[in-house]
Amino acid sequence: MRMNDFGGYTVPAQGLYPFQWNWDSAIVSAGWAVFDEARAWEELEKLFSGQWEDGMVPSIVFHRPSNTYFPGPDIWGTPQKPSKSTGITQPPVAALSVRFLYEHTENPELAEQKLVSLFPKLLAWHRWWYKARDPENTGVVAILHPWESGMDNSPAWDESMKFPIDKLPRYVRCDLNHVDSCMRPTQETYDRYLTLLHRFKAANFYDPSRLYWISPFRVTDLCVNSILIRANRDLRWLALRLEKDDIVKEIDEWLNKGFEGFKQLWDEDSGLFKCKDQLTGKLANAPISAAFLPLFAGVATKEQADKLTHNLERWLGQVNYGVPSMDPEDHRFEPLRYWRGPVWIIMNWMISNGLRHYGYDELADRIKDDSISLTTKAGLREYFDPLTGDGAGGRNFSWTAAMCLAWLD
Ligand code: DGY
Repeated sequence: MRMNDFGGYTVPAQGLYPFQWNWDSAIVSAGWAVFDEARAWEELEKLFSGQWEDGMVPSIVFHRPSNTYFPGPDIWGTPQKPSKSTGITQPPVAALSVRFLYEHTENPELAEQKLVSLFPKLLAWHRWWYKARDPENTGVVAILHPWESGMDNSPAWDESMKFPIDKLPRYVRCDLNHVDSCMRPTQETYDRYLTLLHRFKAANFYDPSRLYWISPFRVTDLCVNSILIRANRDLRWLALRLEKDDIVKEIDEWLNKGFEGFKQLWDEDSGLFKCKDQLTGKLANAPISAAFLPLFAGVATKEQADKLTHNLERWLGQVNYGVPSMDPEDHRFEPLRYWRGPVWIIMNWMISNGLRHYGYDELADRIKDDSISLTTKAGLREYFDPLTGDGAGGRNFSWTAAMCLAWLD
């Protein structure tokens, strides 16, 4: 973590990801809290220094230049000159971190002061999600780019990403300078990522009131929505501390609506939650590990939880280390390719936390034990092969380190 500290913010991995990434930083702040509380708050403050006027917190904040990542600030060209961030967002983990820091503080005065200054920023971001990404009031929010889910090349997006690729300015990927191509999204997938970026830029520079309506990719993502519900619960907890009764009511409405919204994501045939393409109205035919995150959100019924754990046990029976990012019996399973098979420790934490909440302690322990074995055996890698336990993707990865400090220790 110290090695990846670029001065108030932590890069996820040097070279591969040389800026401040949104949900990475939120997780990383919990790791910092274990040994340097002031630095933990600073991480979040630095993230929110990139917040847009409308409340959005961008997926990447470009605090200083780097030529080891593509697409950087010159390509994004967001309204600030020079461009200081991307024009899209990422899973809203920050409220969870603020609560974690507040509850684990050794300096209550500092924590109170930080809470007072961060709370309105968190609230503005959550309000942005509902205004910009659920203008039709369905209770669940849309993502408009796979990068917003964090699960960039998940099979859940395969069908929704079939829109035509635009004629793109010539570009050279940098990720393949750092990681073997068998562990990264394909070239065709990258062309689609870039097609979306250029269309959003052409829409009056990422104007949030237009993107929802013009994007050829609009999906309900289980990862973002589960985290948003869980973050709403933590925001509510923080609002109670600050005695903000009106805001508690506003959050209660989001939670009630969200509970209803999740009902449309349940697939009784497979006994799993599924992402949904909002443009076709179809559930994505992809059994992915985010299917278990409604347990983390606390929106699954007891019957649904039983079916989910039945599936999870079957998946775990097929691998040596859980939780694979997709059903290992599915023909699309690739144990090394990013979000199409590998284990991610952050997903393990959320799944295990949800399982414990529903009373499945043995399964929660198994996932925690696997996470300890993986990081002990392969080190602080970005993700792991569920069959061999080998590390994959970036090395010396900040949020894997943070999880070891804040969860596995
Ligand atoms: C990448 O470039 O791989 C990131 O996930 C985008 O945010």
